[in-house]
Amino acid sequence: MCGIVGYIGLKDAREILLNGLEKMEYRGYDSAGLAMRNADGVHVFKEKGRIADLRRVVDESVQATTGIGHTRWATHGAPSRENAHPHQSVSGRFTLVHNGVIENYEQLKREYLLDVPLKSDTDTEVIVQLIELFANEGLDTEAAFRKTLQLLKGSYALALLDREQAETIFAAKNKSPLLVGLGEDFNVVASDAMAMIQVTDQFVELMDKEVVIVTKEKVIIQNLAGEEMKRAPYTAELDAGDIEKGTYPHYMLKEIDEQPLVMRKIIQAYQNDQEQLTVDQSIVQAVNAADRLYIIACGTSYHAGLVGKKYLEAIANIPTEVHVASEFVYDMPLLSKKPLFIFISQSGETADSRAVLVKVKELGYQALTITNVQGSTLSREADYTLLLHAGPEIAVASTKAYTAQISVLAILAGAVAESRGLKLPFSLTQELGIVANAMEVLCDAKEEFEQMARDYLATTRNCFFIGRALDYYVSLESALKLKEISYIQAEGFAGGELKHGTIALIEEGTPVIALATQESVNLNIRGNVKEVAARGANTCVISMKGLESEDDRYVIPAVHELLTPLVSIIPMQLIAYYAALHRNCDVDKPRNLAKSVTVE
Ligand code: M6R
Repeated sequence: MCGIVGYIGLKDAREILLNGLEKMEYRGYDSAGLAMRNADGVHVFKEKGRIADLRRVVDESVQATTGIGHTRWATHGAPSRENAHPHQSVSGRFTLVHNGVIENYEQLKREYLLDVPLKSDTDTEVIVQLIELFANEGLDTEAAFRKTLQLLKGSYALALLDREQAETIFAAKNKSPLLVGLGEDFNVVASDAMAMIQVTDQFVELMDKEVVIVTKEKVIIQNLAGEEMKRAPYTAELDAGDIEKGTYPHYMLKEIDEQPLVMRKIIQAYQNDQEQLTVDQSIVQAVNAADRLYIIACGTSYHAGLVGKKYLEAIANIPTEVHVASEFVYDMPLLSKKPLFIFISQSGETADSRAVLVKVKELGYQALTITNVQGSTLSREADYTLLLHAGPEIAVASTKAYTAQISVLAILAGAVAESRGLKLPFSLTQELGIVANAMEVLCDAKEEFEQMARDYLATTRNCFFIGRALDYYVSLESALKLKEISYIQAEGFAGGELKHGTIALIEEGTPVIALATQESVNLNIRGNVKEVAARGANTCVISMKGLESEDDRYVIPAVHELLTPLVSIIPMQLIAYYAALHRNCDVDKPRNLAKSVTVE
């Protein structure tokens, strides 16, 4: 949520910053701004809306080789030009961008800034005013910055310009991500390597409570006490092409289509010399040492976790619980004696999940993170990491990460089962290969799903997705996909549970989309479909080859019963996509959302 960038070098900063902000727009897109420093001073441009709106207000005649920028997801204060970053101190000497939330900003305002006329409703402005206050008391910029950081409670990634120190960007981080990118005759800072991959692939990670002083020649990392920290750069393995839409109209559609390829990449990445799918033995041992697994995640990743629980229990025979991170952190259940925590997070930056990770580490427990982003906070702070190999996921609605998460959980469960002498009754490599082929068939059937979106969702206000067993978990994810991008109120429901209350909502024409891919409950879900049809629902059944009935609207190719979520979600992703498109919604950047949810 929110993204920051900074550039200092020899080139014109404007385009580099605007391009970087465009690449990070997925992090927040209700307003944006940038500040450029040149011989005339600091020039600030801000606008409500998208980076495209910001571009319109940036004065192209301003040339500068130093600048910082911000794309915002509002937390304190409405999305508006006043609340957009950068924020400036009263005299205009200091200019700041911030990603994160300062929890004690009200208290700091009362304690230090009663006489300072604030121009915005943000927590960020307090930071920049404090820096000026301490500078006015005689501290140099570095010391004023550090003193301010020591007062802040909460999360921040910051980039600061000082009008009187033109050749420097001051940056710092705590809990929110921040990287420094290295180049020849320039250096950059960014919330995400994607923002600056066009100019460098060499990055240095910053740790919490570190400050970095960036000039075009040098990068000095310090802790809050001012001691210098040495850190080697790493090469970001990001292909600039991966983050382009290419010929696709939306990232979401591109990412849906990438799922067969991602499946094959995962098979490759996790195959050993005997062509068996496995994970690092240290991870297998950690799982085997646990008496219970606790999967912690949010949103789509939580839904993948539900499927993962089934795998870990049915394949590897380990009791597993799945919890929504934001609940678990404040309402922890009674834990087993030897728990292992598994964090599932596409971004690896989700604040709710991280809050749990911090807590369980304090309690001395081990943690494994399953993430798409190497070096992300959740990956760094856990004991073990399994990567998704899904490539950058840019659309806010998660698609390929979901199927990648489920696949990696299946591989983990298979590896643990193998180590326990529990022979899988099928070859996972072969079955995931079949899944990849089935995914291709589904991605090629877009017209069918577009028509289904028209037939069932063109004008409706609501929609139900029902299923039983694994299909129930996919129904939850299907409903989330539809509501987040089309704004149609959608609910995922266990087919048998409707009659206990929710069936009261079914009226003439209510769309009910049912999944029927599970043999053991095939007759039951069909009974549930009849129940809602009898009450006027506009029903649609998507079944699997071998379990189909005459009236089914679509029959997906057969895959192993345990792996059906990997394929049955694809029609649902596509139906959601086309429903949103038909309603003229902004598919990739739905209202009120952001890709990386870095506030609790
Ligand atoms: O990066 P994470 O996997 O931790 O993100 C968790 C959720 O915020 C995310 O899955 C969200 O629900 C998606 N927008 C759903 O499409």
